[in-house]
Amino acid sequence: MKVLVVGSGGREHAICLSVSKSPRVDKIYCAPGNAGIGQLAECVPIGAMEFDRLVAFAKEKEIDFTIIGMDDPLVGGIVDAFEAEGLKVFGPRKNAAILEGSKAFSKDLMKKYHIPTAGYERFDDPDKAIAYLQTAKMPIVLKADGLALGKGVLICNTLEEAVEGVHTIMMDKKFGDAGNTMVIEEFMTGREVSVLSFVDGKTIQIMSSAQDHKRAGDGDTGLNTGGMGTFSPSPFYTPEVDAFCKKYIYQATVDAMAAEGRPFQGVIFFGLMLTEDGPKVLEYNARFGDPEAQVVLPRMKNDIIDVMEACVDGTLDQMQLEFEDNAAVCVVLASEGYPVSYEKGYEITGFERFDNENYFCFHAGTARNEAGQIVTNGGRVLGVTAKGDDLKDARAKAYAATEWISFANKYMRHDIGKAIDEA
Ligand code: AMP
Ligand code: GLY
Repeated sequence: MKVLVVGSGGREHAICLSVSKSPRVDKIYCAPGNAGIGQLAECVPIGAMEFDRLVAFAKEKEIDFTIIGMDDPLVGGIVDAFEAEGLKVFGPRKNAAILEGSKAFSKDLMKKYHIPTAGYERFDDPDKAIAYLQTAKMPIVLKADGLALGKGVLICNTLEEAVEGVHTIMMDKKFGDAGNTMVIEEFMTGREVSVLSFVDGKTIQIMSSAQDHKRAGDGDTGLNTGGMGTFSPSPFYTPEVDAFCKKYIYQATVDAMAAEGRPFQGVIFFGLMLTEDGPKVLEYNARFGDPEAQVVLPRMKNDIIDVMEACVDGTLDQMQLEFEDNAAVCVVLASEGYPVSYEKGYEITGFERFDNENYFCFHAGTARNEAGQIVTNGGRVLGVTAKGDDLKDARAKAYAATEWISFANKYMRHDIGKAIDEA
């Protein structure tokens, strides 16, 4: 069969690699893709938001199955656009992708269906938000309602910071229309865990857990980023946590979406915080995490096409997900200066030893220049990933493999997976 993957990051590279391992697949296209994806798929220069062109391409090439990796097109209704033309596509429809697209929607859903999450209030009016803050307990968390590249969350330690945050989000509109509505929520503490799942509208199957490292610098310092590295599984995701989430969070979310007339088909990413009062939902995403996919998918034994098709066909109850009994660690190699400002266009070398079995080099911001060299083309450049017998083994191997790669201004965190030592 012919498969089209939509997106261009490390997550989409990991998806393409899993797809390439399916014996059912003859040909992969990726729009727009990147230099690493180009080694597995034919990259097509169409942007992820160009729905009409993507649909026309899928029809012209007689694509059998399309996989949407990114949040923006999902929230914008790309799945509806494909389905309207009778094309088979993996991902939630627009009315379900709102689970990620609107934080106010997801908080209201959790409240209505008693799914554990931080207490909150929602505001459309900045004056009312500021009045509310006068009596609120600090620290407090402000969230722009809509998609903001993962940057629309402000943790405020003082009333002054919080009032300034309301200005930033609702009045200065730093995140655009995403800030028309705002959620103000209780500050929680605890360890964070990412749990990805496949969902077919009714049934949910959980993948192996993971943990991200969102801050730019060692010791969780510096600015928030898209993610500087991951490990899987999380040793803090214990059988007790799993049992709690299965009872109160996972199926409850799927049932709530169905009850609202918004059946969810695709991947739900549960951002969880393990608080003293038990696990609570920090956020939902309507897609694989990046760089969570890079440590979870290489460990999945199932044929990814079988699983994704079961999500679209509503037959996920007949599948059993299986993961290797090992671990994986991904260390992101970024350009010095990310996430603020950085240079691009430097040649990258050292890809030879990655075998796509135990060592993986997932491309995020890379391109091919006119001379045919692979060069840096973004803030997050590569996700160097290794599998090992356990987390410590995987971490040692992943860091060893980061040394194989050379490019100017190469930057990484040196403490990805440090939490493993505390488990
Ligand atoms: P989100 O985009 O909602 O996942 O938020 C980004 C990050 O902000 C999370 O990964 C947490 O580290 C932090 N965060 C979000 N909500 C809260 C909260 N209620 N309490 C503490 N930290 C939070
Ligand atoms: N790694 C966090 C995310 O994909 O949203």
